[in-house]
Amino acid sequence: MNILILGAGGREHAFALKLSQSNQKPTLFMAPGNAGTAKIATNLPIDPVDFQAVKKEVLENGISMVIVGPEAPLVAGVHDYFLSDEDLKHIPVIGPKKDGAELEGSKEFSKKFMKKHGVPTAAYEAFTKETLAAGKTFLETLKPPFVLKADGLAGGKGVLILESLEEAKSELEDMLTNQKFGEASSKVVIEEYLDGIELSVFVLTDGKSYKVLPSAKDYKRIGEGDKGLNTGGMGAISPVPFADEAFLAKVEERVVKPTIDGLQKDGIDYRGFIFIGLMNIDGNPFVIEYNVRMGDPETEVVIPRIQSDLLELFQGVATQTLHEKSFELTDQTATTVMVVAGGYPEAYEKGKIIKGLESVEGTTVFHAGTTISGENIVTNGGRVMAFTSLGDTMEEALQKSYNNLQKVCFEEMNFRTDIGFDLK
Ligand code: AMP
Ligand code: GLY
Repeated sequence: MNILILGAGGREHAFALKLSQSNQKPTLFMAPGNAGTAKIATNLPIDPVDFQAVKKEVLENGISMVIVGPEAPLVAGVHDYFLSDEDLKHIPVIGPKKDGAELEGSKEFSKKFMKKHGVPTAAYEAFTKETLAAGKTFLETLKPPFVLKADGLAGGKGVLILESLEEAKSELEDMLTNQKFGEASSKVVIEEYLDGIELSVFVLTDGKSYKVLPSAKDYKRIGEGDKGLNTGGMGAISPVPFADEAFLAKVEERVVKPTIDGLQKDGIDYRGFIFIGLMNIDGNPFVIEYNVRMGDPETEVVIPRIQSDLLELFQGVATQTLHEKSFELTDQTATTVMVVAGGYPEAYEKGKIIKGLESVEGTTVFHAGTTISGENIVTNGGRVMAFTSLGDTMEEALQKSYNNLQKVCFEEMNFRTDIGFDLK
């Protein structure tokens, strides 16, 4: 069976590695992949949002399943493209169609969905350029801090949390009238601030039944102690110690079930992952956001904890038989530490030679921004590699990740030394 994975990050490397361990021994293709995936798959140098190029490769390589890693191809309608094409429509795509992808593609859509289906979330209102004055008046009714969110996809940068009312008003104006985040901020959601501890829960669904995957916590800031600029994620831990059984039962009852039921009621045939960003407030879950894909680096700790065959689970999603599939998890803790390029998340250089990878033992290195250049593996992005380890305790897993990470180097390599600091 030939499988194509769209994407190039650590998330996609983690999918590929897990699929390569399937009893069905699939042949894997990546678009575009990285130096890590090149070892277990054929990398195809195409852009996953170039659907015609995807189609050509799918037909040429006899692909019989497509797994979509990032949100961009989903929001752009890759799944719909397959269904509307005579040559492609029989090939299952793991990832929602455009209607389901709106849960991530539009903050207002996702807030309306949550409100309609009784999923706990922060109170909100949405505003456009035309209703700017009403937006400012709405801000006056809220207590600080003020949360402003660009409605559309803004590469993880579209959320502002502001202490002063004046600043909130002027940022709102900047977003709406000056398109601070481009087209994405032509509509802005203003919402109540939720004060709690953040974590994520992941769900795989065939549109009827679902499996709740392990919870995870990621570390988004570049600096130690969660300081400094936001990044795509500098590390992750799974499971999340404060997400105990009682809390996770509430997540399933109050969030997962109404979400899956709501999709069905709204006629959205959703086949893929749902990433639920949550705030735990005094033991009660509130949804901050939905993403229509797995997280990165969360995937690098969630997937290694799944003991069942991931390909079987994907086949269950494709044929709506997910409820029949076995789903086992390890109790061990998984940790990942992301190694990034100097300067990231601001300007950074690429092409630095990575040395020492052959000495890594007992830790899996998931590649992200890497590529092959002649004899060498070189850096090719801001987030370069994720060092994932399993252990009986979080401390043991982190120790392994950090020990192995010291064996690897490239010029101006950077990482956080305190992943998990708040959970110890
Ligand atoms: P989002 O893109 O919606 O996940 O927001 C980015 C980050 O902003 C989240 O991961 C939270 O840390 C924070 N955030 C978003 N919405 C809220 C809220 N209503 N209250 C507090 N923090 C929030
Ligand atoms: N690590 C956060 C994300 O994937 O959106």
